[in-house]
Amino acid sequence: MAELKTIKIFDTTLRDGEQSPGNSMNIEEKLRVAKQLLKLNVDVIEAGFPIASEGDFEAVKRVAQTIKGPEIAGLCRSSDKDIDRAWEALKYAGEKGRIHTFLATSEIHMKYKLKMTREQVLENAVKAVKRAKSYTPNVEFSCEDAVRTDLAFLAQVVEAVIGAGATTVNIPDTVGYTIPFEYFNIIRHLKENVSNIEKAVISVHCHNDLGLSVANSIAAVQAGAGQVECTINGIGERAGNCSLEEFVMAVKTRHDILPFRTNVAHEQIVPASRLLSTITGIGVQPNKAIVGANAFAHESGIHQHGVLMEKSTYEIMTPESIGLKTNVLVLGKHSGRHAFKKRLAELGYELSDEDLNRAFERFKALADLKKEVFDEDLDALVADEVMRP
Ligand code: KIV
Ligand code: ZN
Repeated sequence: MAELKTIKIFDTTLRDGEQSPGNSMNIEEKLRVAKQLLKLNVDVIEAGFPIASEGDFEAVKRVAQTIKGPEIAGLCRSSDKDIDRAWEALKYAGEKGRIHTFLATSEIHMKYKLKMTREQVLENAVKAVKRAKSYTPNVEFSCEDAVRTDLAFLAQVVEAVIGAGATTVNIPDTVGYTIPFEYFNIIRHLKENVSNIEKAVISVHCHNDLGLSVANSIAAVQAGAGQVECTINGIGERAGNCSLEEFVMAVKTRHDILPFRTNVAHEQIVPASRLLSTITGIGVQPNKAIVGANAFAHESGIHQHGVLMEKSTYEIMTPESIGLKTNVLVLGKHSGRHAFKKRLAELGYELSDEDLNRAFERFKALADLKKEVFDEDLDALVADEVMRP
């Protein structure tokens, strides 16, 4: 098999993720998540936005002091004050500290938000990268709202910031607007038209407003991006960011067709998802890919029979690979005799064929009345119907 290219995982749960309603965390909580990100073995942890508040500054500083291994990034706008403050917190990470500075490049943002011309944006971006470079060789520049930026201008900004020393250049879909084909073409265009592009890693950062953030990130790495920015459980501004677990497991599961890998320790995915939900109090929806309660649950008789015979009939990855002990066969009205018999055996009931048939009929009648039949229901049912003198 051809060698797989390693895609860097830049986790922004503690910055973009935390920026969404209900997800803010205090310093201790951020540290707990950062320790779990270390176990997940992500390449970069974006720990916060140091100038945003004293608390965020302190959190970035504590993460930089405590977490050794991954690069630690802090976000800042393209102003001297922001950049200086970011480095004050990040310096504790030493050579692993990354200054992540950004400026919008789309006409909409330049006109209404920044009130700056293209020339001013270009000049400011270069100046910001040079200032960040005076602190650390590890500088990332983000062209905010890149997807809605004029492509020729975007290429000009990317070339200029790489010239100024940026080692990573991020092309965010800030508003979750793009689709895979378009995003692929943007990244490919930059790869082919920016003369110094090989001096920097192209990063992608996709929001999920149209539910396409993971698909767009995959299209981007196919076009040559080398870093994906994502969050645990896909939390983030508005509809969230590219979900770390979905991107990582898509790459792992489909390496037959996607020649990529990540360094993520995927068995740590479920512990990470649960820790974050416990801290924020926000769970994931049951049908959430990879980490939802139903992602490895089977209710229908046909599917249950299939996975009892051979798991790969209805499971494209193993529950163990993401840190779950096992799949679950949920007993409900769609369940069949195989799963019913197996569950009874697990509960210690070995029934004759005749008793099993009667118990199964009772179970079906009960299941029509309930969303799910639990073990206690089965105990009662067996005691009532089968064990009766
Ligand atoms: O969505 C975005 O554009 C961002 C940048 C600051 C990277 O979060
Ligand atoms: Zn973002």
